[in-house]
Amino acid sequence: MSETREIKIRVNDKWVTGLVKSGTTLLRFLRDNGFTEVKEGCGEGECGTCTVLLDGKAVTSCLVLALQVDGREVVTIKKEGDQLLEALKEAFVSYGASQCGFCTPGMVMIARWLLTENPKPNREEIRDALSGNLCRCTGYQKIVDAIEHTSRDL
Ligand code: FES
Ligand code: FES
Repeated sequence: MSETREIKIRVNDKWVTGLVKSGTTLLRFLRDNGFTEVKEGCGEGECGTCTVLLDGKAVTSCLVLALQVDGREVVTIKKEGDQLLEALKEAFVSYGASQCGFCTPGMVMIARWLLTENPKPNREEIRDALSGNLCRCTGYQKIVDAIEHTSRDL
């Protein structure tokens, strides 16, 4: 039988309350509550486009159950006042690292996590961090350039 429960998740510094079923993913919860900046790609943990930070750690939100996130903290690309996120977004624009833009929210969030863990990654470490995030448009070069540029100012 499918359990339905009320949960509360802190998203971008605001508490969001909602009813979820036992199988509801964090991705579905976020999108259903207006956080449509979190994109749904494969839905199977393969493309990285749904990446968010959960208690500071990058996760693919399509693979996390919303029930497991009750009371915890999520950050998406739209969080305001986050200097590192802002710097990454500006660099993605100036380096042309976003074309169709579908992968961009996931790319920026994985980069946000990487630069918190390792503020001066080399290009190989950047590529390694991006290995779970697929982009059909850019060839990755410009994405790596944008992240490397952001890391210079840290
Ligand atoms: S939609 Fe989550 S990894 Fe592809
Ligand atoms: S910019 Fe189109 S998938 Fe990456």
